[in-house]
Parts: sequence; C-alpha cells; structure tokens
Amino acid sequence: MSTKSAAQWLVGHNRFEQKKESSSEKKNFGNAKTISITSGKGGVGKTSISLKLAKILSEKGYRTLVIDCDYNLSNTAVKLGLPLSDNFYSLLSAKKSFEECLVKHDGYYLLSGCNGSIELLNESVGIEKFIIDILVSHENEFDYILLDSPAGIGRENLTLNAYSDHRFVVVTPDRSSLTDSYSLMKILSNKYGVSENHLIVNKISSDKQYKRIIKTLGDTVDKFLGTRLKVLGSVDRKNISVDQFDRILFGEEEFALHQNFINIVEMFSEENVGTMVPTSEHGQDVHLNVC
Ligand SMILES: Nc1ncnc2c1ncn2[C@@H]1O[C@H](COP(=O)(O)OP(=O)(O)OP(=O)(O)O)[C@@H](O)[C@H]1O
Ligand SMILES: [Mg+2]
Repeated sequence: MSTKSAAQWLVGHNRFEQKKESSSEKKNFGNAKTISITSGKGGVGKTSISLKLAKILSEKGYRTLVIDCDYNLSNTAVKLGLPLSDNFYSLLSAKKSFEECLVKHDGYYLLSGCNGSIELLNESVGIEKFIIDILVSHENEFDYILLDSPAGIGRENLTLNAYSDHRFVVVTPDRSSLTDSYSLMKILSNKYGVSENHLIVNKISSDKQYKRIIKTLGDTVDKFLGTRLKVLGSVDRKNISVDQFDRILFGEEEFALHQNFINIVEMFSEENVGTMVPTSEHGQDVHLNVC
C-alpha cells in the first residue's frame, strides 16, 4: 500500500475526526485509547517508557495491551527477560489466534515482535494495515493500547502514529533527537494532518535542562508547524549500567524514577491532558535549525 493509499484508507476509517471528539473524554472503559510511543531518533527510551507506562496503567486497573511495532527487531521480550517468540509472525500467518500470541506480564498484555524472522521479512502484506486491523478488532477488549514504535519516519511508523488517538513523542537532550522528532512531527502534520502530540523528555539531568528543552521544542513546533505540543513530563537520566536500569525501572524501589512515570500518567489522565508549553520559562535557548 502506498503512503497515499494508506492515508486514504485511514481517512476512510474516519479516525482523525473521531480523535478530535474523544480528546476530552475521561475514563473510556471498553473502547481503547491507542497511544503511539514514538520518536524520530532511536535509542531514546521508547520501549522502556512503553513497558513502564503499561505496568502503571494496569496497576491502576486499566486493561492494557502493548504491541511491539518494531516487529522484526523486537526488544520488549528481551527487556522483560521473557523468552523470545515468533508470535507476531504466527498471528500474521494465521498459525495462532490473537489470544494465543499474547503474553501476560505485570498485569498487562504484550504482543511481542520477532527477531530477524526471514519469513516476516518476506511478507508482502503491509504490516501497518495488519496492526491497524488488530486495533480495530480488539479495541473493545482494552482500555489502553500502547504501540511501542520503531524510530524514524518510515511509512509504517508514520501511518501507525497518525492512526493513533495520541502520540507520546520521546526525546532526549541530544540535539539530534530533538531535530529528528521535530521532523517526525512535521511530516505527521503536513502529510497526515496530525495537529497534536504529547512530549516526554527522557534522560534529563537537571530541571533547568528540562525547561530549556520544552521551551525550545515547544516554540519551534508552535512557530513552524502551528500544532499543539502537550508536555507530559520528564524522566531522570540514571547513570548506571543498562542491566541495572532495566531492573530498577520496573520496580518501585527507585522512588524518584517511579514517580517520574506516575506524574506522566497523572498528567495524561487529567481531563485536559497535558499542559501547554510555558512561554515565560527562561533559560539559555537551544536553537533548532529547522524549517
Ligand atoms: N532514563 C534513563 N536513564 C538511563 N538509561 C536509560 C533511560 N531510559 C532508557 N535508558 C536506556 O537507554 C537504552 C535505550 O532505551 P530503549 O531501548 O527503551 O530505547 P528505544 O527508543 O526503544 O530504542 P529503539 O529506537 O532502538 O527501539 C536502553 O539501554 C535503556 O536501558
Ligand atoms: Mg525500542
């Protein structure tokens, strides 16, 4: 399916319009909100954030599903220490049912991807359409469906991001992460009419740095795209080994880190989700060379 036909197909499903109406809803049991956890640049923390948010949402009583949309370079099972599976391909090739392909972990459900599956690589079917079909078929069974997205501006990622009710764009203080996520939002706006995104700033070292980033990106998005960027909060950088980070992420012993995520969920849960970027914040500007 070409990008154009994907866009037409999506408009045919009328999701863009539904999205505007549903943004002020409160708890929405039985009609899942779909959230893409996305970014322009890789390695910014999308998978970590998707899984931690899923755990918190399920602890709050929401039926939550995570779909690993990095479907052939899957990291979710690895991060959780679960056995690798070919469930995504089994579902795609109708060898197993949807229910058989889900793994329950920490109270939420996970459809993990494959890891270098040749069969999946050879599939000619549009994976984005396949994932959207899953969303359409199963949205009544969940309250939240989180799409752990691959990085970048590939057609599949753009389509899934545009289809979602919300997009949590994850950035880090790295300037190229900010620029790449701006590019992602620009294409989503210009090509798919996406007018609103949420922002999570990961690997933050200080409050000053966080404020500088939300002001810089917020001002740039406002000036050049005219779209809304709703800030959900930040996650502290932990200067520890990768293994150690994954271990403390899913526990609650590291209270400050856990609280970062609680704050993000609470910010999103409020009736008027997120807060607009403060325009009065001062600090040394980081200029993005964008247009
Ligand atoms: N706040 C943080 N502090 C320290 N390390 C972190 C933090 N967030 C994520 N990491 C580490 O950064 C690395 C990348 O994280 P993750 O795999 O979640 O990113 P990703 O955006 O999903 O990557 P990809 O684009 O490859 O899918 C991992 O090693 C993870 O443990
Ligand atoms: Mg990932």
